[in-house]
Amino acid sequence: MSSVLEYLEREERVVGRIIGIRFYPIVVDRAFNSKIWDVEGREYIDFSSQWAVTNLGHNNPEVIEAVKKQLEKLVFSSHTTFPNAVGIELAERLVEVTPGDFKKKVWFGLTGSDANELIYKIMPIYSGRRRLLGFQGSYHGQTMGALSLSGHKALTRFIGFPNTLKAPYPYCYRCPFKQQYPECGLLCIDFLENNVIENAPAEDLSAIIIEPIQSDGGVIVPPPEFIPKLHKICKHRGISLVVDEVKVGFGRTGKFFAIEHSNVAPDVISMAKPMASGLPLSAVVGRGEIMDAAIAAHLFTSSAHPVSCVASLATINIILRDKIHERAARVGDYILKRLNEIREKHQLIGDVRGKGMILGAELVKDPKAKTPATFEAACLVYRAFELGLLVTYVGTYSNVIEITPPLTVSSEDVEKALEIFEKAVDDLEKDRIDKEKVRRFAGW
Ligand SMILES: Cc1ncc(COP(=O)(O)O)c(C=O)c1O
Repeated sequence: MSSVLEYLEREERVVGRIIGIRFYPIVVDRAFNSKIWDVEGREYIDFSSQWAVTNLGHNNPEVIEAVKKQLEKLVFSSHTTFPNAVGIELAERLVEVTPGDFKKKVWFGLTGSDANELIYKIMPIYSGRRRLLGFQGSYHGQTMGALSLSGHKALTRFIGFPNTLKAPYPYCYRCPFKQQYPECGLLCIDFLENNVIENAPAEDLSAIIIEPIQSDGGVIVPPPEFIPKLHKICKHRGISLVVDEVKVGFGRTGKFFAIEHSNVAPDVISMAKPMASGLPLSAVVGRGEIMDAAIAAHLFTSSAHPVSCVASLATINIILRDKIHERAARVGDYILKRLNEIREKHQLIGDVRGKGMILGAELVKDPKAKTPATFEAACLVYRAFELGLLVTYVGTYSNVIEITPPLTVSSEDVEKALEIFEKAVDDLEKDRIDKEKVRRFAGW
């Protein structure tokens, strides 16, 4: 077997750069729960969950068991034309577990981008209104419709479709209106309604899509009233509310779906990443009339893949049976508290925030001016990697360390990871990091 560096050289020769965001040199060999081993047998604690996918830990034994059984029975049927039983069972389950006391239906795909691509395509057809609204900083995916709905800098390489508008997300640490919450009285929602929506114009606006916590945008948690107020505006103006739960769904925030914190039943929810514990699967659950709006408008040969569907059924059962979301709330509160203690000792950390087990630490060069510490974020995740902890960074300024451990992480690994994190911050502040090594891993 090659070494990590040899593999990376081999990769460089044959795998296109289009596919990667790299933060440090790693080539994964195997994994279990919150641990990952590289091809040289080096052990890491995975506090990324591979971009919030392995909510139930790597290689969850119960999910693997269900998958093995399904593999022996039926590897594939194309749900488009030859529906499989587990796809139908999963659709029934998703309708049950999503909020909303109205008739719902499900669409299946393979990845978060294709789920949000459906939103882009179907909402104007359903409503007869041509435009859609997303938020600055949002990440909905890489396909043309999904990236058009997005407001993340990383997706600006392509111009996207012109029928999408963007509004400011309530990023209180860096309020675009230079206000303080709660004294601001939520000026942002007022601006959204009376400026952005009014001029859209509202009569031509089919849907508003929002991440209940903006994750790639910088782990930004909106004030609690924001989404309920947004929902009210949507209802009043006949606009559908679409919630993107691709990254924060399936227990991560302390509820099964993050939108449940707002007590709102959106018209449509998109989901993917953790829903099949690492197997490719996405879904959109929406009002029946929306999901029936156009026949064969968005289908893929391997949508509702039976193996992924079985993994998803097992994932849902485990989360609900073991109340994994409640554990996420408890452990997440503890990590947040510890991160705040670390912040108090280190000026580099300007803000710490999150909900459940999606947490962010925003790095700044100086706490008053809040100048983003971008290269420092790259150095910090690199140093954490050298010390045995895997984390990434996100945000408009690439300066927010994202902490999304598996919801099943052991208390022992939480303690070890936090120790490593603090040591990495300390090493960074004391200039003990080899910057040249970091520069080779540009991140995003
Ligand atoms: C909120 C959100 N939506 C959609 C996507 C796109 O998902 P995928 O990368 O599976 O296509 C992402 C990916 O990071 C995401 O965070």
